[in-house]
Amino acid sequence: MKLTYLGHSALLIEEGSFKGLVDPYISGNPLSKINVDDLVGITHIFVTHGHGDHLGDTIDIARRNQALVITNYEISNYLSKFKVKTHAMHIGGRTKFDFGTVKMTNALHGSGISERDSMIYGGNPGGFVIEVKGKKVYHAGDTGLTYDMKLLEDENIDVAFLPIGGNYTMDIDDAVKACDFIKAKIVVPMHYNTNGIIVADPQIFKNKASSEVVILGINESLLV
Ligand code: NI
Ligand code: MN
Repeated sequence: MKLTYLGHSALLIEEGSFKGLVDPYISGNPLSKINVDDLVGITHIFVTHGHGDHLGDTIDIARRNQALVITNYEISNYLSKFKVKTHAMHIGGRTKFDFGTVKMTNALHGSGISERDSMIYGGNPGGFVIEVKGKKVYHAGDTGLTYDMKLLEDENIDVAFLPIGGNYTMDIDDAVKACDFIKAKIVVPMHYNTNGIIVADPQIFKNKASSEVVILGINESLLV
């Protein structure tokens, strides 16, 4: 399995014919080094919550690639109005797909979808445990520290992507505690240094964390 960090919380998971994107914030992402049209052959898109830096370019990429969007019921309902193929799930549910299994996990956060002057209800925010060919990736989405993460220990996560930038999510010290709960084989920090509000030094996180931390640069990949 190849995991490529696209900056902020955007992640590309590749395994054989499966090409899954999580939270594809590309065109508006100051850290992004690619364009939306560089993403070809995308089969699935996972959206953790409705905020613009996660929903991102989902509609555009889903349409170009005929990708199936897996997200919560409310965002799924919103996207279906844009003629995007969706599969609605919700927190706690685990579903078998042709590529593997997906479980939606909870996140302590918001999920409203901003549209001009209004905020559309985006259901509860979440995260995903995505299992493909026996390898499990946990993408936490945006979340504060929650003791529920302790339950993820039983999932035997291979790679966990955790936010460390603070302000909207866990900061480094809380993400360090999350590592103790989850006990993933490898942890990759995300959701930091995209702007001046979520500033964090991933090296400090790496030094403090109980898990093996791999710091991925933008467009850098990890093979597991
Ligand atoms: Ni958010
Ligand atoms: Mn965010």
